[in-house]
Order: sequence, then C-alpha cells, then structure tokens
Amino acid sequence: MNHSWVEINLERMKQNVRALRSSIPSETSVILVVKADAYGHGLVPVAQAAAEETINWFAVAFLDEALKIRAALPDVNILVLGLVLPEHVDELIEKRIFPIITCLEHGLVMAGAARAKGRILPVHLKVDTGMGRLGVQWNEVAETVKALNEAGGLEFAGVCSHFARVDPDQPDYASAQAQKFNEALKYLPAKVFKHLSSSRAALYFPDWDMDGVRQGIVLYGYGANDPKGRFQTRPVLQWKARVVQVKKVPADFSVGYYGTYRTEYPTRLATLAVGYADGYNRALSNKGDVLIGGRRCAVVGRVSMNWITADIGPDATVKVGDEAVLIGEQGEESIWADELSKICRTIPYEILTSINASLERKY
Ligand SMILES: Cc1ncc(COP(=O)(O)O)c(C=O)c1O
Repeated sequence: MNHSWVEINLERMKQNVRALRSSIPSETSVILVVKADAYGHGLVPVAQAAAEETINWFAVAFLDEALKIRAALPDVNILVLGLVLPEHVDELIEKRIFPIITCLEHGLVMAGAARAKGRILPVHLKVDTGMGRLGVQWNEVAETVKALNEAGGLEFAGVCSHFARVDPDQPDYASAQAQKFNEALKYLPAKVFKHLSSSRAALYFPDWDMDGVRQGIVLYGYGANDPKGRFQTRPVLQWKARVVQVKKVPADFSVGYYGTYRTEYPTRLATLAVGYADGYNRALSNKGDVLIGGRRCAVVGRVSMNWITADIGPDATVKVGDEAVLIGEQGEESIWADELSKICRTIPYEILTSINASLERKY
C-alpha cells in the first residue's frame, strides 16, 4: 500500500524482439543492451525472457552486471561496454565475458595480464568513429591492432563502434561514422564479429546491420512507432501506485509545498504513494497526468519526496486503495515514458532508468 510498483510485460518484450528480428537479416544477431538494470526493467528476468526468445548476445556497462547474467545464463555471449581492468582478466576468461578494449594502453595492460596467466583473452575492439567517448580513434586502429598483435595475449573476437547521431532525414554524420568504421575494419581479421547499430540505426538504416545490432530502447518499446521505421514496438513497463487518501476540497484550496496549485472549483484530490524519491520527476509538478478510475487526472501541486496529489474531479468515486497508473494503460487511456520525458525535457531512457530499483518489479 505504501509503495508504488513496476509491472513488466515480458511477453510484450518478446513480441518486440520478434518485430525487430522480422526486419533484419536472419544472420544478424540481436545484442540486447541490458545495462542500467535493463533500462530499469530488471536485469536477470529480462535477460532470461530474451534467452527464451533465443537471444544469445547481451551487452552491459559493467563487469558486475555481466556476472549476474552469467550466473543465470551459462551459455550466452556477454559483452561489457565499459572499461574492465586487468585485475579481472581471470574472471573474464573463466566466465567467458568479452571486455572491450578502449585504447592502446588499455589493450597493452589487458594483454600483459593475460600473458602473465599464459592465457589468451578474447576481446572486442571499440572504435571511436565520432562519439568521442570510449574507443580507439578510427584512424589509429591500424597501429593499435599491430601493436597489440605484436604484444600477444589478446584475440580480436569482435569490433564495434557507437553512433553519436542517427537522424533519418540527415544521415550524413552517421554515414561518415559508418565509413570510418568500415575503414578501421580493414585492419582486423575478416571473421571478426562486427556490430555498429544501436536502436535508431537499426530502425532506419539496413546497410549497417552487419553481424549484430546492439538494441536497447526499441526492445523496451520506445522510439519505434514511426511507420517509416523498419519495425514497430510497444512499451513493456508500467508503473503503478495506490491511492492512500481521498479528500473533498473547496475552491481556492492550496495544494502541496508553497501552494503552487489552488483549486479552481470544489473537487476531490487523491494522494498517491509515490514521489521523487521513487524517481517520479519533480518537473511533473502541476504538469503531468496520472490515470485513476480509467481517466486522466492532473498532478496538482509539487511532487514531494514520497507523495503526489491528483485532481480526480468533484464526482470521482475513487477510493483509498485504488490503483493509479503513472506509466502505462488504464481503460482507454495511456501515459507512456515518452510523454513524461517531453514534460521533463529529457528522454524516455532517463524516465525509465530513474525509477527506483528498490521498487518491486512484477513480471
Ligand atoms: C555502446 C552502446 N551501444 C548500444 C546502446 C543501446 O542504445 P539504444 O538504447 O539507443 O538502442 C547503448 C546505450 O546507451 C550504448 O551505450
């Protein structure tokens, strides 16, 4: 009663996987990006459901996430997209987890650690083609690969890059990145596993499918509702809370901290057990809506730490204990994370990953 909770529709996620797969070549692997607790959906349950749908590639940001997947799924491929240090080389080899190599120096210390154990560490080389974040500069790949081959200890199992801008109406920047990536590929063995496209690229640019597409947001149901895209997906996550009080109030009634809302007419207010401590963005104060009793109701007053208040209208029959929807569907109505992200001037990714991980996820 005192906590909001999250409902994850794993069947819908599987449908999203099927929609994606039906539009890419069968030989292109789907690499499911499950970093940040699977974009707030829950790392292991999501990975397990995806594996049931025969997904056998997963990408995470950090080694600890990779280890959680390995404990649940002994046979899948796991790639760590962030920096992994040489002291973890044993664990990487033992658990068959691919790190990326971010630069020559990183490659040399990883190679050194592998050689010291008398082992070969399979890695993916990260190439920076224009993101400017992690990776070997695309025009330094030749010398980097040469130096690392000479050092010994690493095997280039894969190579990847990440798009900084993907806009179907202005493809020039992404095209230039793809060209740089192709240039860098000349210096790697032909059989290496090549992956470049994140969600938007896979949605609009078939030419860059390669051996794998790293897909996050579209499989969680956002960003793929454009009929011009190659596939369509639907949101997987709903976020709900209980009504903990209903109040009948007169006109000109002050609501919340600093009275930023005053009722215009006599109405009823419902207080919900969710607030910014749960990840409900404070920018939704006096701007967002929630669904209660199958209707949209305005969030009135400031979002506080653990509670929000909604105007449910003078005739509402809503009771304490009723379910309210913060993200999701109720009756004919729906509110999705992209609606909230526009109000908060952010992106659905941030709305989803801000939902407090301690809230119960029901699958
Ligand atoms: C390196 C890398 N690849 C792929 C993705 C997946 O992006 P998207 O969710 O847009 O598919 C991310 C996400 O941040 C990323 O950092």
